[in-house]
Amino acid sequence: KYLNLNYNNVLPFVELSDLKLMQKEINQARKTLDEKTGLGNDYIGWTNLVDEISPELIDDIQITAKKIKKQSDVLVVIGIGGSYLGAKAAIEYMKPYFPKRKSLEVVFAGQNLSSTYLSELLDYLKKKDFTVNVISKSGTTTEPAVAFRAIKQLLEEKYSYDEVKERIIATTDASKGALRTLADQEGYKTYIVPDDIGGRFSVLTPVGLLPIAAAGIDIKKMLRGAKAAKRNYKVKDIYKNDVHMYVALRNLLYRKGFALELLVNNEPKLNYFSEWWKQLFGESEGKDLKGLFVSSASFTTDLHSLGQFIQEGKKVLFETMIDIQEPEKDLYIGHDKNNLDQLNYLENKSVDYVNRQALKGTMLAHLDGQTPNMLITIPKIDAYSFGYLVYFFELACGISGYVLNVNPFNQPGVESYKKNMFALLDKPGYESLSKELKERI
Ligand code: PA5
Repeated sequence: KYLNLNYNNVLPFVELSDLKLMQKEINQARKTLDEKTGLGNDYIGWTNLVDEISPELIDDIQITAKKIKKQSDVLVVIGIGGSYLGAKAAIEYMKPYFPKRKSLEVVFAGQNLSSTYLSELLDYLKKKDFTVNVISKSGTTTEPAVAFRAIKQLLEEKYSYDEVKERIIATTDASKGALRTLADQEGYKTYIVPDDIGGRFSVLTPVGLLPIAAAGIDIKKMLRGAKAAKRNYKVKDIYKNDVHMYVALRNLLYRKGFALELLVNNEPKLNYFSEWWKQLFGESEGKDLKGLFVSSASFTTDLHSLGQFIQEGKKVLFETMIDIQEPEKDLYIGHDKNNLDQLNYLENKSVDYVNRQALKGTMLAHLDGQTPNMLITIPKIDAYSFGYLVYFFELACGISGYVLNVNPFNQPGVESYKKNMFALLDKPGYESLSKELKERI
């Protein structure tokens, strides 16, 4: 078994009969997903993507990645939401904490509206050779469009017309949107975001694959991991399918009032994986006045902050922890002859061993504090486990959304802030809302 789900610390909170009932709901939800008969069924392309992605496309992405590395010190990836988080998560998961700066640096833009961020980025890029991958499925999202306009202007100041064209790659819809029009008109290299895959499910499409490949990560291995997960979670029985068991438990806990799920790691390289996961579940399930609120923590760091709440605060949350069996690197704690720090009892113990004992102790402490927790263990951090985890959670999310009886593949709520922002910015077409909002402010 590649991934293990240990749910012993959830069992005291659920009845066996609950699990039996949940099996029936899972069977139905899984069938709906597999047969593409549910809500949002035109956005289920991600389920088969790993089997269907063409070797030519992968080769093409790898060739482009090579070209980017050759011509640049920095790749600027412009995008927000699903057009940002997958690549960011993969790169943070696999890059060293303190990289030796000989390899291509990947930086992100358009994921916020901070004027300081964009100004400092432009200053930084002035002295670098860089390429831009602008990513927007709709091709009309404001944040990346603002960043792209500024960064494109910098490119135009630095390079000739022909060179600029070689330094912009657009990942967008096959035919719709402002970015597609611009890319076609200017003759940029483009990659297509498939119609039937929504932003938060798009990390294994060119949206994620190009920046991830450019960062030097083995995308074929990543896809193999996702493919293995697809193969491993076919059976219905929750006791034989960890995806199904995970969905069953999180929905049961939700129904018992644990309406908040905390994704926990004890390795900060997973912090952006948590951000990706939060978008996946938060945007997919939080609608129709339903859904778990998803958040995250990194241990042991957050045991010195949120840990107090998890242990003794209001009993509203449960934890899903990800543990990595084998650290990439480990080191042993040395001897100190004076032992003034009183740490000699840890002599010859590895730091990872200490980290693991902290996690084990925490799980029991939280259980005793009436906070349910479950543990997902993966062998190690690499491209394969990243792909595997991505598919594990995407599948869980699709099924869980149907158990909750929502459309897991839309995000109508995201439009409200956009409408108000456009109105306040006096975008043509928003005149009456603009007047109404300005009176309220
Ligand atoms: O999951 C989603 O669909 C969203 O979060 C989008 O990814 C995000 O809004 C960015 O959209 P776009 O790629 O169209 O610019």
